[in-house]
Amino acid sequence: MSQNKRPDGRATSQLRPISIRLGVNKNADGSCFLEWGKNTVVATVNGPRPIFPKHLADQTKAVIDYKYRMACFSVSERKSPVPGKRDKEISLVSGHALEAAVMVEQFPNTVIDVNVLILSADAGTRVAALTAASLAAADAGLPMRGLVSAVAAGRANGELILDLNKEDEDTPDAVDMATAFLMPQRELVLLQMDGCVNKKDCSKILETALKGAEVVYELQKKALVEKYPMDGEIQ
Ligand code: CDP
Repeated sequence: MSQNKRPDGRATSQLRPISIRLGVNKNADGSCFLEWGKNTVVATVNGPRPIFPKHLADQTKAVIDYKYRMACFSVSERKSPVPGKRDKEISLVSGHALEAAVMVEQFPNTVIDVNVLILSADAGTRVAALTAASLAAADAGLPMRGLVSAVAAGRANGELILDLNKEDEDTPDAVDMATAFLMPQRELVLLQMDGCVNKKDCSKILETALKGAEVVYELQKKALVEKYPMDGEIQ
């Protein structure tokens, strides 16, 4: 990674500022409001509750019903409130990623509702959403193996970089790799990529993403400890 500054003044391996607030919605079992640069996200978790219709039930675990949505006003051109292919795809893969963290096997035949609304978007919304959803699940008191810490990394203007914003993503040679890790196990639970990259750079981007996820994880732990002070340490 070079020390060159990016258009927004960040170093190549620097995250945008992240701020987290837990328990922001009294009607949800767990919730999180997260600002990640110019992305603004609210995530709620409700459940587990009995699932209807019953044929959707899984006798071995809770089903995670993850809904990623963008508010109409979250992007420069009005986003239709009807969920499109992109929203559905992001919801599906994010639900699978979150399932790695939640001990779903403890709640057979139930559903856990996870709703994430993007209020303002500047690239990296799916990773901001998943980071917030994981915290909302912890805020809901669900038993968890760890947290999902998500971040994007990639390339812009010939540089390998962490945490692309919209300006980075819109460069002609952009590569955007969305990743999520189950932490502290460092287990990769989501990987999606836009753009073309060789094998060597692909590995470097993944390494950069893991380093970024470690920073995200520290911020997540800090937010949890602030809301739920405890004697012991979270690993
Ligand atoms: O947000 P993320 O990087 O996870 O997903 P993307 O599909 O790569 O979208 C990148 C960015 O494009 C979003 O964060 C929005 O800023 C913008 N976008 C948009 O303006 N209109 C859409 N319908 C979808 C995305």
